[in-house]
Amino acid sequence: MAKILVVYHSLGGNTEVAAKAVAAGAASVSGTEVVLKKALEATEEDLLQCDGIAVGSLDAFSYMAGGLKDFFDRTYYPTQGQVTGKPYVAFLTHGGGGRAIESIENLCQTFRFAKVAEPVLVQGRPDAAAEAELKALGAALARAAEKEAAG
Ligand SMILES: Cc1cc2nc3c(=O)[nH]c(=O)nc-3n(C[C@H](O)[C@H](O)[C@H](O)COP(=O)(O)O)c2cc1C
Repeated sequence: MAKILVVYHSLGGNTEVAAKAVAAGAASVSGTEVVLKKALEATEEDLLQCDGIAVGSLDAFSYMAGGLKDFFDRTYYPTQGQVTGKPYVAFLTHGGGGRAIESIENLCQTFRFAKVAEPVLVQGRPDAAAEAELKALGAALARAAEKEAAG
C-alpha cells in the first residue's frame, strides 16, 4: 500500500482544482492511500510518512506561493537525509507566465526527491483536458511510489 501526499497552496481555487485532480489520479491506482493537504496545514510527519509527494502552487510573482514555501521552510531541517529519493511530481497554475515552476523544481531537488514525470502547468482553472493531464500525473506518481514502497 503506497501513501501519496498531495500538498498545495491555492488562493483563488484554481490550484485546488488541480490538486484534487492529481489526488483523484493517484487514488485511481489500486492500493494507494491519498492524503490531500493545504501546504500551510501539512507537517513534517506528512512528508516523512508518504511514499510519494505531489507539490502544487499558483505562480506568484514568478515564484511559488508563500504557503508552499512555508511548508518547505518548516520541513527541511527535520526531514533532511530522510526523504532522499522520494518520488515527486509538481504542478502549477498560472496567469500566462509559469516561471514559478523552476522554484518548485529547485526545492524538490534540494530535498533530493526523485522526479517521476515532467511537471504539469495549467493556465487559469483546469479544464477537462488539463484535469486529465493532472490525473495522469497523479497516477504516474502512485505507480512509482508503489514500486518504492514494495522495495
Ligand atoms: C499575488 C499574485 C501574483 C501572481 N503572479 C503571477 C506571475 O508572476 N505569473 C503568472 O503567470 N501568474 C501570476 N499570477 C496569477 C496566478 O498564478 C493564477 O491566476 C493562478 O491560477 C491562481 O491560482 P489559485 O486560484 O489557485 O490561487 C499571480 C496571482 C497572484 C494572486
